[in-house]
Amino acid sequence: MGSVLVTGGAGYIGSHTCVELLECGREVIVIDNFVNSSYESIKRVQDITGKKMKFFEGDMRDRDFLRSVFSENEVDSVIHFAGLKAVGESCEVPLEYYDNNLNSLIALCETMAGFNVKKLVFSSSATVYGDNQPPYNENMKPGLITNPYGRTKYMAEQILSDLSISDGEWSILILRYFNPIGAHESGKIGEDPKGIPNNLMPYILKVAIGELPELKVFGGDYKTPDGTCIRDYIHVVDLAKGHISALKKLDKFKGFDIYNLGTGKGCSVLELINKFEEVCKVNLNYSVGDRRDGDLPVCFADTSKAEKQLNWKAKYDIGRMCEDSWRWQISNPKGYKR
Ligand code: NAD
Ligand code: WQD
Repeated sequence: MGSVLVTGGAGYIGSHTCVELLECGREVIVIDNFVNSSYESIKRVQDITGKKMKFFEGDMRDRDFLRSVFSENEVDSVIHFAGLKAVGESCEVPLEYYDNNLNSLIALCETMAGFNVKKLVFSSSATVYGDNQPPYNENMKPGLITNPYGRTKYMAEQILSDLSISDGEWSILILRYFNPIGAHESGKIGEDPKGIPNNLMPYILKVAIGELPELKVFGGDYKTPDGTCIRDYIHVVDLAKGHISALKKLDKFKGFDIYNLGTGKGCSVLELINKFEEVCKVNLNYSVGDRRDGDLPVCFADTSKAEKQLNWKAKYDIGRMCEDSWRWQISNPKGYKR
């Protein structure tokens, strides 16, 4: 069997997926340009697994670079994580997001077709459900997407659907992630955001370790039981394992399909804070403030399709997600920078 090419493999979800791939005996090739990561995560993946990966530093939009990687290696299938993902930033520099996220995808698919590699798993997001009524299922029409980042994911899905219609040899699976948090149980790899975090768990971690003074809970007046927003947090290791299940399906499938990867359970901001304080035995300094623009009150997955067709189900609970996030943070107070 040829190798799995993991684009964006130095990043948060990519690095955890590389661990799972190596642990189930796959050869792994990583491409990354480190726009949001560092080489240290690649070293640590190899350290955790005791196995080597091939690594190529470069930009996914660079077709000559991609051709050189494909010609030097026997690639069997591709998991395409590489992309920019910050919602707020995407509103400030939309062209960078459309350029990076869409031109990378087009360059990748052209190169794959040129080398007759037609098995692809693509990282999409629950954000494409927009203002639909949760639980979200894969048959729903996309809802109102409120930011350029989300639109790049929606457009990417359309591009891949069109590609599979044009050429029946492709096998393409879209995975729509809900809210990944947590870290590998070793504490060696985890999420390492640059600057002040945008997302809830990285922010909680910085407050818990004393790097930031206070967490603001964005809105306490939503129509939810405790007034704060509800999300479907999923352990990043469960998410990574979902990619192994998707690759198995790719081997016996042609066409295009979409799967939600979530737990199917909603958890409010206050519930997450309380659970974090309980299992990590720390007090978080927080206060409830104004709503953040663009936030939906409730978002969680219907996971029955992935359970039935990918034979995959998330197993870690919120307590374990908090515990593993905290272990990563206290073992690496400066992230990958020692
Ligand atoms: P991440 O930023 O940690 O990882 C993305 C990686 O891609 C980084 O290592 C970055 O350096 C690399 N990269 C970006 N542009 C590149 C380019 N042009 N060429 C080469 N490498 C490039 O993000 P993540 O959280 O691991 O997310 C992975 C994927 O999953 C992304 O596509 C993201 O949009 C998607 N996703 C993430 C979440 C989430 O909450 N983390 C949720 C839904 C979907
Ligand atoms: C979670 C909850 C906030 C920070 C984003 C993207 C989505 C996907 C996952 C990529 C919300 C609240 C947050 C803080 C808070 N990413 N919060 N104080 O917005 O659900 O999803 O990441 O595809 O596309 O939009 O995640 O972690 O930012 O927020 O109260 O300092 O925490 O209001 O209710 P979100 P998040």
